[in-house]
Amino acid sequence: MMNRGLSFRQKNIIFIGFMGVGKTSVGKLVAEKLYRGFIDVDQEIEKEFEMSVPEIFKEHGEKVFRDKEKQLTIDYCNQRLKVISVGGGAFKQKEIRDICLSSSIVFFLDMSWESWKERINILIDNRPILQGLSQNEMKDLFYERQGMYNLHHSRYNTDQQSVEEVADYIIESLKLAWQLHEPDWD
Ligand code: S3P
Repeated sequence: MMNRGLSFRQKNIIFIGFMGVGKTSVGKLVAEKLYRGFIDVDQEIEKEFEMSVPEIFKEHGEKVFRDKEKQLTIDYCNQRLKVISVGGGAFKQKEIRDICLSSSIVFFLDMSWESWKERINILIDNRPILQGLSQNEMKDLFYERQGMYNLHHSRYNTDQQSVEEVADYIIESLKLAWQLHEPDWD
């Protein structure tokens, strides 16, 4: 694996978590504040297919989407000094979990079900996985997914937090970890 041997400070930072918790907004801001390049894997998939995610699901099916998600995530994980947001279902695939956790620093952006359910109306049109599900089925999926998100290096609960507050917290915790693991760099 190509990223073995990278210093802690050179590693990518990856955001995981359920649909619509703010991975893209937080990732973009963290990248900006750290002067790093930002990659949103869903947006890269959309560019490759020249279609939106719901269109890809409709035209090609979920498997084609997941295969492209795996291929691109592996490619991006082999870069360095990037901030990467992956889709909420990416960690369903073992190869994605393994490469993210071994090559990069993985932050789980967590949110309570109570806060998340307030967002359903603004999310549903662009999230094919949610379409046709009752609120109870969405709740089951939400809790079912928590197990895979528990594979991370750091977790942050975003309830009642602005994007700016979450990004600042993450940067502070990274600085502490960098200082702790690689004090000689300062
Ligand atoms: C998905 C989450 C979406 C997107 C696709 C599938 C999922 O990304 O990858 O609709 O299975 O949870 P966001 O988490 O950015 O919404």
